[in-house]
Formats: sequence, C-alpha cells, structure tokens
Amino acid sequence: MKLLKDRILHDGKSLAGGILKVDNFINHQMDPVLMKSIAVEFVRRFADLPINKIITIEASGIAPAIMLGYLLELPVVFVKKAKPKTMGDMYVSEVHSFTKNRTYDICVSKEFLSPDDNILFIDDFLANGNAAFGILDLVRQSGASLMGMGFIIEKSFQEGGKRLRALPAMRIESLARIKSLEVDKVSFEDNV
Ligand code: G4P
Repeated sequence: MKLLKDRILHDGKSLAGGILKVDNFINHQMDPVLMKSIAVEFVRRFADLPINKIITIEASGIAPAIMLGYLLELPVVFVKKAKPKTMGDMYVSEVHSFTKNRTYDICVSKEFLSPDDNILFIDDFLANGNAAFGILDLVRQSGASLMGMGFIIEKSFQEGGKRLRALPAMRIESLARIKSLEVDKVSFEDNV
C-alpha cells in the first residue's frame, strides 16, 4: 500500500534491534485519515471472505479494527491482556512475546465468540507472530473459524509471516512488508 509505505519512510524511525517506531501516526498519536485508508485497503483484500466478526488485541490493534468494523458494519472484539474482575467465563491463552521479552495471558469472554463465527484478526504489527498464534488458540477453543489475518506492517525478516502462511485455509495480508530495518534505513519487499 503505497500511501502507507510513503508515510513509514517519511515519519517512521528505524531503531536498533529491528524495531520500527511509528508512534507519531499508528500506535501512540494516530492519524485517523491514514487509518481509514488502511481499513479501506483491508476491505478490498478480504471482501470475498464471509466474515461476520473482527477480532483484535489491545492496545494498538483496536484503531484499525474499529475502523474496519465501521466500514463493514461488523462487531469488533478486542482480546484483553489483563483479566477483568467483571469477566465471567472466558477463554485464556498464554503468549510469549519475543519482541517484548515477556509472557502474558490473553483472554476473551465466552459470550463474544461462538462456533457460528467467521473471524478476521487485525493487528498493527506482525513480527514473530506469537500474539497471532494466541488469538488462533482462543478462536479454536471457542469452535469459531479464523478465516484471515490482516496486519498494517509485517517485518518479513522475522518468522511470523512464514509461520502464519503455513497454516491451512488462512488468508494473511500485510499492507507494508519490511524486508530489512537498519538504523535510519527501511527497505520494503517489492510486491506490496
Ligand atoms: P513477537 O512474537 O515477537 O512478540 O511478535 P508479535 O508479532 O506477536 O508482536 C508482538 C508485539 O510487539 C505487538 O504489540 C507488536 O505491535 C509489537 N511489535 C513488534 N515489532 C514491533 C516494531 O518493530 N515496532 C513496534 N512499534 N512494535 C512492534 P502488542 O503486544 O500487541 O502490544 P501493543 O503495542 O499493541 O499494546
């Protein structure tokens, strides 16, 4: 997605350790006009799938997910990283983040996932993909179907993309695929 790649080149900052800082337009300060264009692109890429619900994970996935839910007029569920006191029965899965070097539980109320649901997962970054595998586990526990996953930015030099694309019957779409990140230099894969 050219608009997004141009914005990453203009406003993103490549930090040591393969981290891309995008906190002035995606995950701290947010640009809603860009976010709308991102959601329109997700609509285009997933239009042929019979999705009835969108799932994401707090915090940074919520903005693109709600924008997409608005366009498709579908409910959006965000998976929580801390167990709320008021939550009754829930599905729980453990995630180890290599990026953040910590292990945490993610949870979602049993009320909001059912075997009839065809789900699309949306998130801001795909790195090693462990958050995505945690979501897949929650969806499988509920008996729902996870049909696709859409990411704003994929770091294709990490393993997540390869691991997720090996899953059967799963559409994976990333709007900007980053081949390499050196300090002050971002290079994209040619095809997206
Ligand atoms: P992992 O297995 O290596 O942890 O990778 P995963 O794809 O599951 O991403 C885990 C978290 O790390 C995500 O945040 C993702 O947004 C963040 N992340 C990964 N690479 C980068 C990067 O280069 N830049 C930035 N800014 N974030 C990155 P999260 O756990 O969902 O938390 P939140 O930040 O959305 O609250």
